[in-house]
Amino acid sequence: MDKFVVYGGNRLEGSVKISGSKNSVLPIMAATLLASGTFEIENVPDLRDVATMSHLLRIIGAEVIFKENKLIINTERCSFFEAPYELVKTMRASIYVLGPLMGRFGRGKISYPGGCALGPRPIDLHLKAMETLGAQIDLEGGYIIAKGDKLKGAEINFPISSVGATGNTLMAAVLAEGTTVLTNAAIEPEIVALEEFLVDMGAKIEGIGKRKITITGVNKLSPIKKSVIPDRIEAGTFMVAGAITGGNIEIQNVDVRHITNIIDNLEKTGTKIRVKDNSLIIEAPDRIQPVSVKTEAYPGFPTDMQAQWIALMSIADGTSTVIETIFLNRFNHVSELKRIGARIDMDGNKALVTGVKELKGAPVMSSDLRASASLILAALVAKGRTDISRIYHIDRGYEKIEKKLRSLGAEITRTEGSL
Ligand code: UD1
Repeated sequence: MDKFVVYGGNRLEGSVKISGSKNSVLPIMAATLLASGTFEIENVPDLRDVATMSHLLRIIGAEVIFKENKLIINTERCSFFEAPYELVKTMRASIYVLGPLMGRFGRGKISYPGGCALGPRPIDLHLKAMETLGAQIDLEGGYIIAKGDKLKGAEINFPISSVGATGNTLMAAVLAEGTTVLTNAAIEPEIVALEEFLVDMGAKIEGIGKRKITITGVNKLSPIKKSVIPDRIEAGTFMVAGAITGGNIEIQNVDVRHITNIIDNLEKTGTKIRVKDNSLIIEAPDRIQPVSVKTEAYPGFPTDMQAQWIALMSIADGTSTVIETIFLNRFNHVSELKRIGARIDMDGNKALVTGVKELKGAPVMSSDLRASASLILAALVAKGRTDISRIYHIDRGYEKIEKKLRSLGAEITRTEGSL
C-alpha cells in the first residue's frame, strides 16, 4: 500500500490549479442515466471516486470513456439496474444512481450503504422521498429494492438539509408525472450545478439554488455537454496549505462565491487573501491567529474543511474551538494529529485546540479522505519526517495532490509502504 513521506518546514510558493469538483461530478455522472445518448463532461478530476462511478455506470450498461479530464458517457444500452455491494462499500455516493434509475427505468437495486469512518450515515431521507414519489422500497439481502413504474410528483419537506437526499430526489422527480415541491432542499454549489445540469438536459426546475424547489416532470430528457465546477474543498485545502506553511501562493481556477466562508475565516487568522478573477493569492502571517469555527450546511463552514482547519489551528497562537454539527463523530484525524504534537481536547463534538509552536514528524495513518488532507497539511509544517500510511483515501478525492504540493515547493513523495 502506498504511503506519503513528507519532510516538513518548506514555505510554499508559486501557483497551483484547482481541479473539477468531486462532489459535483459524481451526481452529474449519475444524472446521465436519465437520458439516452452521448454526454460530454469536461473538467473532470482524475480520481478514484470518478473511476468507481464510471465502473458502476458500466455495470448498468453505459459506455464510459475517460481521457484527459473529459468523460464521454453513452447511456443508450442501460439494462442492468443494480449497484453492487463491492462498489457501494468503497463509495457511498453510489446511492446517487437510485434517483435516476427510478426516474428513467422505474426500478433499481442498490446495496444498502453501511457505516463509514465519519460515523453513522443514514439514507432514510433518500428512501422516504422515493416512497413519497410512489416507489415501493424493500430491503432484501442487504440490498434496497426499489420499484415504481411511474413516479408521481409530490410535496417533500426534508427535516434536515441533505445534499445527497436533495440530489437523489431531484433526479427521481424530473421525469415523474406532475409537480414535485421540495422544501428545505440543500443549496450547496454542487446541488446548484446538478440543477443546472438537469435544466440543460430539458428538466423544468424553478427555484434553482433555493431551499424551495418546484420540479415539473417532463417525458424525456436529452444528453448534453457541460463542464464541472471547481472543487471548493480542494481550494480550501490549498488555502490552508499556504497559510500553515507561512507561504505565499496563487490558487487558480476557483469560484470565489463558493468559498466566501472559508475566505472570511482564513482572513481572521491574519492571512492576507487577494482575489483576482478566478484566482486567489494567499499570503500567510508570521503566526496564525486562533479562529473558532462551527461546521454547518452551506453557506456555513463546510464539514469537509473541519479536519484541515484543526490542522491549521494546531499551530495557532492561542486556543480555538472547532465544533462539528454535520457528522458528529468526524474526528478520526484528532488522535493522529496528536501523534505529531497537536494539543487537542475533545468534548463530544467539540475540539478544543491549543496551538503549539512546533509540530514534530511521526508515522501516522489516514482514516478517511479529509482526515488524510489534514495529516498532509500538518506534516508540511511538522519538523522532520512524517510517514502517512493508507493514503488510498486521499486518491478518492484529491487529484495529484503530491504533484501539486511539490510544484509549490513541498517535500512530499509517494512510496510503497508495508501497511
Ligand atoms: C455530501 C458530501 C460530503 C459532505 C456532506 C455534507 C458528496 C458525495 N458527499 O455527503 O462530502 O461532507 O455532503 O456537506 O457530495 N442525513 C440523514 N439521513 C439521510 C441523509 C443524510 O440523517 O438520509 C444526515 C447526515 O447523517 C448528516 C446530514 O444529514 O448529518 C447531512 O448529510 P448529507 O448532506 O446528506 O451528506 P452526504 O450527501 O452524504
